[in-house]
Amino acid sequence: MALLHARCQTRGMADSPSPAPRGNRSTTPISEAFRDFIQAGWSTPAPTTPESFAHAPVVAIRRDRVSSHFPGTTLVIPAGGVKVRSNDTDYPYRAHTAFSYLTGWGSGATPGSILLATPEGDSHRWEIFILPPAPRTSDEFYANPALGEFWTGRRPGLDDVGTWLGLDAHDLAHWAPDTLDVASLALIADADEALTRVIRARQESVDPDSDARLAQVISELRLVKDEYETSELRDAVAATHRGFQDIVDALPQAMAHPRGERIIEGVFHQRARLDGNEVGYGTIAASGSHACILHWVTNDGPVTAGDLLLVDAGVERDSLYTADITRTLPVSGTFTKRQREVYEAVLEAADAAFQVVKPGAIFKDIHAAALAVIARRVSQWGFLPVDVDTALSPEGQHHRRYMIHGTSHHLGLDVHDCAQARREMYLEGELRAGMVFTIEPGLYFQPDDETVPPEWRGIGVRIEDNILVTPSGAENLSAGIPRKPEEIEAWVAGSTQR
Ligand code: GLY
Ligand code: MN
Ligand code: MN
Repeated sequence: MALLHARCQTRGMADSPSPAPRGNRSTTPISEAFRDFIQAGWSTPAPTTPESFAHAPVVAIRRDRVSSHFPGTTLVIPAGGVKVRSNDTDYPYRAHTAFSYLTGWGSGATPGSILLATPEGDSHRWEIFILPPAPRTSDEFYANPALGEFWTGRRPGLDDVGTWLGLDAHDLAHWAPDTLDVASLALIADADEALTRVIRARQESVDPDSDARLAQVISELRLVKDEYETSELRDAVAATHRGFQDIVDALPQAMAHPRGERIIEGVFHQRARLDGNEVGYGTIAASGSHACILHWVTNDGPVTAGDLLLVDAGVERDSLYTADITRTLPVSGTFTKRQREVYEAVLEAADAAFQVVKPGAIFKDIHAAALAVIARRVSQWGFLPVDVDTALSPEGQHHRRYMIHGTSHHLGLDVHDCAQARREMYLEGELRAGMVFTIEPGLYFQPDDETVPPEWRGIGVRIEDNILVTPSGAENLSAGIPRKPEEIEAWVAGSTQR
């Protein structure tokens, strides 16, 4: 069911025009009689009674903080448009993270919206431009499958959005890039390529630093979560916990299907859609040696008794905050001796890393603590060609063969959050109360790895938790999801024996 029609700007100014229609699909009737008929006879829409989002005041504080870094500079933060998946179908829409952070508008954001900050005294005047609903008397209402409410459902009006967000809201038709002071302007340039091109066309000499600095400032402000954010992250973890329970309950069904990993992915996705907006990233459902493929998202293998099942999954809330949790489960309810040995080493690494976390500690020391355990264990098992101290030296690092990835990343609106923060604020930065990040050590013995005995090959284990730095130390937000081997065995056995 699709109607051929030219699409306009809010599809994403970044999109290139679709090829010309070839007349092989039904089109909207264009007779005057039809237009007269379809544009009349609609009851007046019930008035909405919008209320301010409860988190609007804290989002206003974020905007003030950004403002204080850019006196006299115009700031443009687009939401971005819809991205084409293929032909006339699109990916699910997601606003740019910087836009969501500074508006507080999550999964319901109208594509193509723009947040604008115009210098005013020492601060800025913030306003938002959105595409309001088209009236029933317009062609767009019924004839535009990308924008018309007949096709896409109700869209909020200017009053709704203005009240929700506590911002002056204007019709996108009044967006006038020609009037912007481009001599001193910073733009989130990767949000909407076509809008960026329009602004660039007016900028004689672009100061590349100002755009990068805006992205960096926003990323670095996001490093410490406010109370609304930590509450959303707690809720994302709680929903993810329910999703993992669904997975454990579905193990018998997964074992009975030749593509059992898809059963695992599917039940988690259902939970994400029921309790949140989406999954925060592609679910990894990796059974047996697939667990050794770090980003295994194909998920088309069987879930086999006797194997380990590694699941890395997170529910993203409607606010777009996401959890990022991994559990490794023995499919038939009991770890083998070898599996348990590997599991306990990874758990020891995770717990050692957690011990480091407190305000004032350095982020990268969390990784070092985890790796010290990993190196010691693989050395004890006889897998290293050098002693453990040599391996741990910068010139060595042999143990990284078995854990090539990092131990931690910040978590928030993006699964890999705050990506534009400087190294000295992130990797080498001091931990501060309110930071949220993962601790996710692992051990992966590839099925063709001749440095380990055959019975170790194909075992992959990761344990990933979401950690909040508190004023006195740390809280593991996902501690309630079983993680000790005996807890995990009881959890899985409770399902498979049902
Ligand atoms: N799920 C991706 C990660 O753990 O970073
Ligand atoms: Mn993960
Ligand atoms: Mn992660």
